[in-house]
Amino acid sequence: MCGIVGYIGNLPAKNLLIEGLKRLEYRGYDSAGIAIASSTGFDIERAVGRVSNLEAKLDGDTGFDGTIGIAHTRWATHGGVTEVNCHPHTDNGNKVCLVHNGIIENYAAIKTWLAERGHVFNTETDTEALACLIAELYDGDLEAAVKAALREVTGAYAIAVLCTEEPGVLVCARKGSPLMVGVGSGEYVVASDPSAIVAHTSRAFALDDYNVVRLTQDSIRTSTIHNKAVTPKVMQLELELDQIELGTFDHYMQKEIFEQPHALRNTLRGRVDRDEGRIVLGGLLSCAKELVRARKFVMIGQGTALHAGMIGEYLLEDFAKIPTEVEFASEFRYRNPIVEEGTVVCAVSQSGETADTLAALGEAQDKGALSMGIVNAVGSSIARTTDAGVYLRVGPEIGVASTKAFTGQVTALTMMALFLGRRRFLSVEKCKQMIGDLETIPDKIEQVLQQAQQIKAVTEKYVHRENWLFMGRGFNYPTALEGALKLKEISYIHAEGMPAAEMKHGPIALITDGMPTVFIANRGAQYTKVMANIEEVRARGGHVIAVATEGDTEIESVAEDVLWVPEVAEPLSPLLTVVPLQLMAYYAAVARGHDVDKPRNLAKSVTVE
Ligand code: G6P
Repeated sequence: MCGIVGYIGNLPAKNLLIEGLKRLEYRGYDSAGIAIASSTGFDIERAVGRVSNLEAKLDGDTGFDGTIGIAHTRWATHGGVTEVNCHPHTDNGNKVCLVHNGIIENYAAIKTWLAERGHVFNTETDTEALACLIAELYDGDLEAAVKAALREVTGAYAIAVLCTEEPGVLVCARKGSPLMVGVGSGEYVVASDPSAIVAHTSRAFALDDYNVVRLTQDSIRTSTIHNKAVTPKVMQLELELDQIELGTFDHYMQKEIFEQPHALRNTLRGRVDRDEGRIVLGGLLSCAKELVRARKFVMIGQGTALHAGMIGEYLLEDFAKIPTEVEFASEFRYRNPIVEEGTVVCAVSQSGETADTLAALGEAQDKGALSMGIVNAVGSSIARTTDAGVYLRVGPEIGVASTKAFTGQVTALTMMALFLGRRRFLSVEKCKQMIGDLETIPDKIEQVLQQAQQIKAVTEKYVHRENWLFMGRGFNYPTALEGALKLKEISYIHAEGMPAAEMKHGPIALITDGMPTVFIANRGAQYTKVMANIEEVRARGGHVIAVATEGDTEIESVAEDVLWVPEVAEPLSPLLTVVPLQLMAYYAAVARGHDVDKPRNLAKSVTVE
């Protein structure tokens, strides 16, 4: 999704802003632009495509030597991907210049009102209406004009605004879309996420909804759009620069797949005690009683996070015997869901900023549900608005196709299910056994990763095929969905995931000679059922690629290719079986020549609905 960077200080802003935009590239975008305050107004440049295109255009430009500026990567919503629609946008008089993430929902009405007052619009964007509205309401005080404009706006926004009449002032605000302020000495860096801040300062705070911050080189003032003073909570960013650098890997996705053993050791560290059969999750303690007494859990999320939530359903019902449902946050938020007493709504999210998940959480909270988050990004909106939660601790995830966050989410959900299970029906012996198994997961993932070259070779056999199926049962039905999603996202191959039993109700009609059909066929309660489904595919000429448990000799005689995972207790098996599927998707995308980390049309953090 769109990314914002702003700078005010004593360094030339241009390179710093471009550097920041590059750090935000992973979020997904289709054009980029920059504005630097100058003695006569603004130096503005825009380019369609990569930040490097913008950089190339800037090389030929004069000016752009000021120390205050704003920059933007745009992921088109209103208006096509054109240079004219690129941010920053100004009003007709070039008084106000702004960058914006989110959607101004009532922009059409605002435009009509402004047109009556003589404003002319040059773009198809909703953002231009906001620039003009601020200019129209300006009466010598930019901060006041921004607040007045935002009081008229419905929708979501994170904005950074400059005004020619007040050189030396940068005003930013947020509702719904994330925005952080990095606090340096004599300088401030504003950005959509900490990756664009951490090179300059590790002290930062996140703006809350309806907050406005007015920055000068040596002053900061935060208040709400209704003029209530706010004291920002400055925190220490834990992000290290090397965590967001590629190192020796070709792509962030590859790096993050291979990082999983290390990442999950961090997820588990200090939280599991095998000897005592105890799980220590500090983020659940304040609400432990309500959680233990919960009558129902509802897992919400989108994309990969939803798939993790689906595994969470199986885990919670198995270990804690709490009835659990899973729902797309986007559906939950609008269907007036019934939230009865004793309902816990658990949002699963890597970024903690997904607009639909955040809104669904709000809906659940309004209806009296206890809310919790399974979140990676520390201090993100979901983390800050929930009653309880478990952080993934897998480090920043840059690859758009989520990998280590998925295994982190499943690990966190497993710990949560054991935490609640022990306080409900789970015996200490069973808990000890599960903790013991959980602790072996990082080493076992390492064993799977050692087969990367073999997985690559198998993938390359089928990479020319345009349609794939992924099937699994029980705990590995969501894994099948995740395998299909990964392949779609980055290799643009059409893939469908489903419970293996569902195949006979339609998808079997698709199976033709040589069609790649991936079965998650690890040893588990439904192994023989999966084997029967494999035979049905073989009988119709499909090529079976099986993810199977090491030592299984039976599978070799029925599958065209086998990708092996070590033996593990079935509830934990998705943590292993998903890894070959992640690698398959990665190698398929590389073989097809796609830009793995910048997949077509996708965004890392979907902050608009
Ligand atoms: C986007 C990303 C997915 C992610 C989903 C939910 O679609 O491309 O990788 O699974 O959003 O994101 P979240 O940050 O809430 O986990």
